Amino acid sequence: MSRMRPILISVVLLLIACEHPSPPTSVSAAQVPAPATSPTKVADHFVPPPESTIPDDDFGKQVALGRQIFVDPGRYAKAYVGNQLSCENCHLDAGRLANSAPLWGAYPMYPAYRSKNHHVNTFAERLQGCFNYSMNGKAPPLGDPVLVALESYAYWMSKSEPIGTSLPGRGYPKLAKPALTPDYARGEVVFKRDCALCHGGDGQGQQAAGRTVFPPLWGPQSFNWGAGMEQVNNAAGFIKANMPLGRGNTLTDQDAWDVAYYMDGHERPQDPRFNDSIPATRAAYHDTPDSLYGITVNGQLLGKGTTDR
Ligand code: HEC
Ligand code: HEC
Repeated sequence: MSRMRPILISVVLLLIACEHPSPPTSVSAAQVPAPATSPTKVADHFVPPPESTIPDDDFGKQVALGRQIFVDPGRYAKAYVGNQLSCENCHLDAGRLANSAPLWGAYPMYPAYRSKNHHVNTFAERLQGCFNYSMNGKAPPLGDPVLVALESYAYWMSKSEPIGTSLPGRGYPKLAKPALTPDYARGEVVFKRDCALCHGGDGQGQQAAGRTVFPPLWGPQSFNWGAGMEQVNNAAGFIKANMPLGRGNTLTDQDAWDVAYYMDGHERPQDPRFNDSIPATRAAYHDTPDSLYGITVNGQLLGKGTTDR
């Protein structure tokens, strides 16, 4: 499934066009209802300044570069990327969309202690983690132009906001535990009904002319076992608010949990912190019911990692 099937894309475009008053020209986060453009708080969440207000000076150049890296790291930060994903795939609308872990929600909250690595992380170190895990690549060194540009972009987006205040719309929504324990078989039903059309029946997404049109959800080109999206609770929150693309908040909470469990119940690249064995790595880094690393799901012991990259 490495080449996009034109007919499938046409079907998707048609489907989305049917649900939106003005048919889109391409399938991307552009289909997500656009936030209002005024740089103030509206409704229940902060709205970042419009992109047209990125200053036309040396600082603005770094902001614009940070945006390019965020949207297309495979091109603008190639040395640090090890899969087919972009930052924007999980932080929609170039990191601007509320409830999609927006950059304006993140920036004012660092430095912060993280239980993931048991110390206080600067914003730059938080960015490094995304490259190690979500991008299955390697972290740019501190001070690297890639980190400077990304940090400039995030700072610019949130610069009218107070530091240390968690703005509504930060992160992904935290869903309450579902009535029924998340289940692989029920998740598969949701996946086939609501996700496979874009992400492929095998979850490997779709590429066109070497670019990712629909990102892979598991397998060698997806995020690795160290990424936040590997945790079923994080994935359920992201999916509930943002998927199917353009129809966020239409799944029931139970469906979101089940399909998150199904997605995270598949093999993906090894956790870069792997030490000695799957049980030891689980004990050190995945000791939570929200991680399926080291658990047998659908007859497969998860955590072996993928190698065919
Ligand atoms: C596979 C999905 C995925 C990709 C790709 C991804 N991230 Fe993330 N990111 C997450 C998840 C999950 C979290 C944790 C969100 C939470 O805790 O609510 C997160 C958190 C963050 C945070 C902290 C958010 C906060 O509010 O504290 C930043 C900053 C961030 N990512 C930046 C990036 C950058 C830059 C890239 C690209 C180099 C990237 N991410 C790629 C899934 C992803
Ligand atoms: C209409 C097409 C479409 C449908 C249907 C759809 N997605 Fe997506 N999905 C996308 C696109 C496109 C992105 C990347 C968004 C971006 O870059 O702006 C994405 C991103 C994601 C991501 C984060 C990136 C990654 O690869 O991990 C996850 C997880 C995800 N989708 C899960 C789902 C699930 C689960 C469903 C079904 C409930 C679903 N999607 C339905 C198009 C779709």
